[in-house]
Amino acid sequence: MKGIILAGGKGTRLYPSTIAVSKQLLPIYDKPLIYYPLSVLMLANIREILIISTPEDTPNYERLFGDGSKLGLRIEYKVQEKPRGLADAFILGADFVGQDSVCLVLGDNVFYGQSFSNILAEAKCKADNGGAVIFGYPVANPREFGVVEFDENNRVISLEEKPANPKSNYAVPGLYFYDNEVVKIAHEIKPSPRGEIEITDVNRVYLEKGMLNVTLMGRGMAWLDTGSPRGMLKASEFVQTVQDMQGFYVSCIEEIAWRMNFISTEALRERGEELKMTDYGKYLISLSEETK
Ligand code: DAU
Repeated sequence: MKGIILAGGKGTRLYPSTIAVSKQLLPIYDKPLIYYPLSVLMLANIREILIISTPEDTPNYERLFGDGSKLGLRIEYKVQEKPRGLADAFILGADFVGQDSVCLVLGDNVFYGQSFSNILAEAKCKADNGGAVIFGYPVANPREFGVVEFDENNRVISLEEKPANPKSNYAVPGLYFYDNEVVKIAHEIKPSPRGEIEITDVNRVYLEKGMLNVTLMGRGMAWLDTGSPRGMLKASEFVQTVQDMQGFYVSCIEEIAWRMNFISTEALRERGEELKMTDYGKYLISLSEETK
């Protein structure tokens, strides 16, 4: 399975902070926002990753991650000239995806919680066997998201993008698993009234074919909003609280690479030495002195 991180867009909801820099490069507490969705792909054991961003910002992501080899990954980059919609990821990423299945994660989505790796493994397995997997997460403000309605057997009944009258309070987070059909489907989607090729329309095609699975995320999972300055601050505070209380870092990509055996203990230590002026670097060094 391949992974795509969509990290473009104009970030207008965070202006003026995002006039000169991509939203997904702003920090959530002690690391860039994009570390969080990248860690999701890594936890799903996906090692071939495409980062899509704007013409101005793509070079910054290249500076941040290079070819991915320091994390035991293969990272490629693709420019999205205009924010044409989330489904554009599969048009821009068609060659990269090839004949594979694919996981798309939005560059501004932060997840954290117990058993998340198991949830990811299950979703990956389902998509590899044909079909799509989306998630449902209960929110107070469903009007701001894609919304999924489902029956008592968790079968999806309807999907709507930012509905005025939501049929449920379950938002669809920006994390989607698909079989290879998604590339063809994305090419056939027509722009919505707001002029974007919508991921919700892609998911509706799977729904109509009876091949859309929804996995509900429960109380044990945090899906954090980064759509406003307040959301960014709250997310930072969440990460700080977890890290200070437990001593475990949230979405530390080098730690994940090491625990998943993508990189050696020596490589982890080297990275720690490079960053040793920060608590983040010291954390990496301390991990390299532990046994896994
Ligand atoms: O976060 C989950 C929500 O994400 C879902 O519930 C919605 O169904 C989905 O449409 C999306 O809604 P948003 O309003 O958050 O979408 P937005 O246009 O803000 O784009 C999400 C991220 O993707 C954002 O960081 C910018 C980036 N993006 C967006 C578009 C449209 C791109 O990189 N390229 C694009 O063309």
